[in-house]
Formats: sequence, structure tokens, C-alpha cells
Amino acid sequence: MREHFLTLSFRLPKHQEESLPELLTPWPVLGCEVREVNAEVEVTVFLQNQARALLPQLKGALKSFGALDLAEGTQPDLDWIGEYRQLARPFRVGHRFWIDPHPDTPTPPPAGCIHLLIEPRQAFGTGSHESTQLMLLLLEDRPPVGARVLDVGTGSGVLALAARALGARWVLGFDVDADAVFVACETAHLHPQWPVALFAGPSRALAPRPAFDLILANMLVEQFVPLLPRLRRLVHPGGTLFLSGLLVSQKEAVAGELAASGFALVGEKQLGEWAAVVASPR
Ligand SMILES: C[S@@+](CC[C@H](N)C(=O)[O-])C[C@H]1O[C@@H](n2cnc3c(N)ncnc32)[C@H](O)[C@@H]1O
Repeated sequence: MREHFLTLSFRLPKHQEESLPELLTPWPVLGCEVREVNAEVEVTVFLQNQARALLPQLKGALKSFGALDLAEGTQPDLDWIGEYRQLARPFRVGHRFWIDPHPDTPTPPPAGCIHLLIEPRQAFGTGSHESTQLMLLLLEDRPPVGARVLDVGTGSGVLALAARALGARWVLGFDVDADAVFVACETAHLHPQWPVALFAGPSRALAPRPAFDLILANMLVEQFVPLLPRLRRLVHPGGTLFLSGLLVSQKEAVAGELAASGFALVGEKQLGEWAAVVASPR
């Protein structure tokens, strides 16, 4: 049975809104929804069901704070991913990729497109995010034909499969999130024509040898920057690194980090506020 969250709804004078996070910090609050209505705000605070015993105390604290019309309620934990999955439609990325969120009822791709069956699940990489799309666009610009590819933070496995479909000789994808790798394995099984190897674990599980012609890493800047020295040891001297997950405003800082780790920036791409860069070992 799906869990229900507890909710506490109330009104507050607008000027009190700023101090609300401080008041709520000691309580096991999952999240907060705030709506402005004239000179007031309507607030709904979400708590886990297990926090029920604390409600009288929290209500007391909120009353002293000035909360009006306090009302308890419940909110079912909706299956957001299931809902999204139902609404999702196949879409094209670049010239080469057709991303289809419905493996059970696939839609044939336009002529010449690679059909990737990526069901939205508990792993990043549905193909709808700009950072993933930038990587797919870089891959189609520079197809890794015959390359040995490492996909760092594989998530759903979308980039690993795309690289293999574009002609990579072999592809190894990994992720520190075992749940994501579980999804990636299942996704890989839907594409037996493009076999990829996958493991759950950190990059230090890989021997520091320059075994890869191309390394893909789509993750937050603060996640990939600490990995750069290790990636430098894993990439072949004539190889390439594609990095995505950075904002355009972070490009300069990332270029500095790349230089400090022994990479030279050789290309870049942008989609909206997102950027991806191409680097080579110096
Ligand atoms: C933004 S998602 C990218 C997923 C997919 N590759 C894509 O391009 O859509 C980043 C992934 O990196 C993983 N990750 C974060 N830090 C990592 C690390 N240090 N080593 C390996 N994986 C990591 C996360 O668990 C997450 O699945």
C-alpha cells in the first residue's frame, strides 16, 4: 500500500514567511508549499506519517509564531514516475536518436534514427534533460566508432547504449547508485544488439590505466571535478573526455579545473543554460 504523508496547512502574514524555515528546522519536515494570497501566504507543510506524535507540539509552535487556521490533513504519496511515464511520448534528439519511453509498446523511429528504449524509472537519464541531450549531440558529432568507452555515472545507461549503437568497440558504464545500475542493466537487456558492461561502484574500482579512448561524464560539477585527476589516468593519451552537467556560467571555472588536471579544452556545446565540454589530455 502507498504511504500517506501528513500535512499541516495554515495562513501567515507575508512578512513572517522569511522566518518560517528557521522555525521548521528542528522538526522532521519533508517539504513545504507556499502560495502568496494578497498580504498573506498559504502554507502546507509535509511530514512523514511517523511524525504524527509530534503534531500537537508543532501546531503549538506554529500558533505561537502567528499561524492562522491550522488544519491537519493527509496527502497520498503519488507515483510521480508512473504518472510521468504514462504521459511521456517518444522524441527525437539530434539527427540520430529516437528516445522511446515505452518499451512494451514501442513507436518505430524515423528513418536513420537509433531507437533507444528508455523507460522513465528511478535513474537519471530519460533523455529529456539538456545535460543528457548535449552528450547525445556530442556523440553524434563525433561518433566513437571502434572506441573503448567509459560512461561515468551511467544512470539509466542511455549514454552507454548510445555510444555502443554508434559503433563503440566496447563500453563500460558504472554508477555509485546501485539502484541506477539495476535500471541500467534492465535497459541494457532491452538492447541485446548493443551489449555494454555495467557495474555499481566508484571510479577507484578501475585500475588507473589509460584503457579508454572516450570517457563520458554527465554529472554535477561538484561531482565530476574531484574525479578529473583519476579520469586523466584512465583516458588514453590520444583520447577524449566529454563532460556535461555544467551551467554555461560554470564553463570558465570548469576549464580551469580541466587545465589543472592535465586536460585541454577542445570543444563545447550549449543548450539553453546548460553546457557540455570536450577535452583532451595535454
Ligand atoms: C546526471 S546523472 C547522468 C545519467 C546519465 N549518464 C545521463 O547522461 O543522463 C549523474 C549520475 O552520476 C552518478 N554519480 C554521481 N557521482 C558519481 C561518482 N563519483 N561516480 C560514479 N557515479 C556518480 C549519479 O548517481 C547519477 O546516476
